[in-house]
Amino acid sequence: MNVAILGFGVVGSGVAEVITKNSDSILKNSDVSLSLKKILDIRDFADSPFASLMTKNFEDIVNDDDIDIVVETMGGVNPAFDFAMRCLNKGKHVVSSNKELVATKGFELLEAARKNNVNFLFEASVGGGIPIIRPISRCLAGNRISEIAGILNGTSNFILTKMIVEGMSFADALALAQQLGYAEKDPTADVEGLDAMRKICILASLAFGSHVYPEGVYCEGISKITLSDVAYADSADCVIKLLARTRKLEDDKILVMVTPCLISKDSMLAGVNDVFNACLVRGDATGDVLMYGKGAGKLATASAVVGDVIDCAANDEKRKFFGWEAAKENCLASHLEADTALYIRAEKTDKALIDSTFGEVKYLSYDGCDEKEIAFVTGTAKEADLMGKLETAGIKVLSLIRVADY
Ligand code: HSE
Repeated sequence: MNVAILGFGVVGSGVAEVITKNSDSILKNSDVSLSLKKILDIRDFADSPFASLMTKNFEDIVNDDDIDIVVETMGGVNPAFDFAMRCLNKGKHVVSSNKELVATKGFELLEAARKNNVNFLFEASVGGGIPIIRPISRCLAGNRISEIAGILNGTSNFILTKMIVEGMSFADALALAQQLGYAEKDPTADVEGLDAMRKICILASLAFGSHVYPEGVYCEGISKITLSDVAYADSADCVIKLLARTRKLEDDKILVMVTPCLISKDSMLAGVNDVFNACLVRGDATGDVLMYGKGAGKLATASAVVGDVIDCAANDEKRKFFGWEAAKENCLASHLEADTALYIRAEKTDKALIDSTFGEVKYLSYDGCDEKEIAFVTGTAKEADLMGKLETAGIKVLSLIRVADY
């Protein structure tokens, strides 16, 4: 089957490489023969081995009836959405690695795929090379999924790992992540949690069956985490990880949030380091399942894209049952209603005030910690109540991180 690629950046060029280099093993493994026919990019690639396939005109692709499958690796919503829609409406399968596109326009694209009896697949949009979307929608389909918690951004995990293991500053670690090609063009999306938020919205939509849009999802990044927070966490046998979490509550509302969390060093997620991602899925039949691997990078992400391309080719005549319904109104629960414990680093204040405010807390310290500060972990309570107590007591918070117990 003939394939076109929209966007010849890191992922798009990786897809071209994998389809070409592994054509024999793809045929052997899947009985599918893939041929790369055109590549769209506005830039020139005269020295590329794929130079003869390049076009700057999308019309060359959408109007080419010989192209069966279109891979969208452009990133961003526009013009990716318009291009993907036009390809679906022309009866072409579309495979995307674009989490922003799927998180914001996934339902519309799935509907267009359904109407045109083609596939819209996006395994690479969450967790890079890790199989996550297909395992949740297929292998775990016999479960009621109650909760998903993931380390879903490789760049922020790489930065936190460098801070924790090497005591590197946030700025130096970010520069290194950019140099290694892990970060988005604008790394704000990585370090402020937006990238992870889009990914957890996709997983929440898939697991709970209706579109969960990023708007209204509570999101904090890692840019305010200090080496002092890292050291206090270590003193409590914890590490700090950026967790993207979703949970179905008893009233059917869905809690979705992205925040740094203290997790025990014994947690399955604590050992997920560097650019690696992991996704923990809690099913009523299977219990906890952890999927782990490279969450970013050229060939790892291309691996997931090519898996989808093969799936499209193998299901050319029959659309796969896959996706979710339209969003439900007011489906999101507030993070303030959820129970949590909090790690708090504050300007030094009387322990008596802290004890009378929170009851029993665990005080933290490490060699060389700042004597003008105090750090402690509260017991578990509704977040709104803990925040209210902090404000009433007038405690001057320098850092506040939720404690999670996966
Ligand atoms: N910038 C993303 C990350 C790439 O660091 O995880 C993969 O989505």
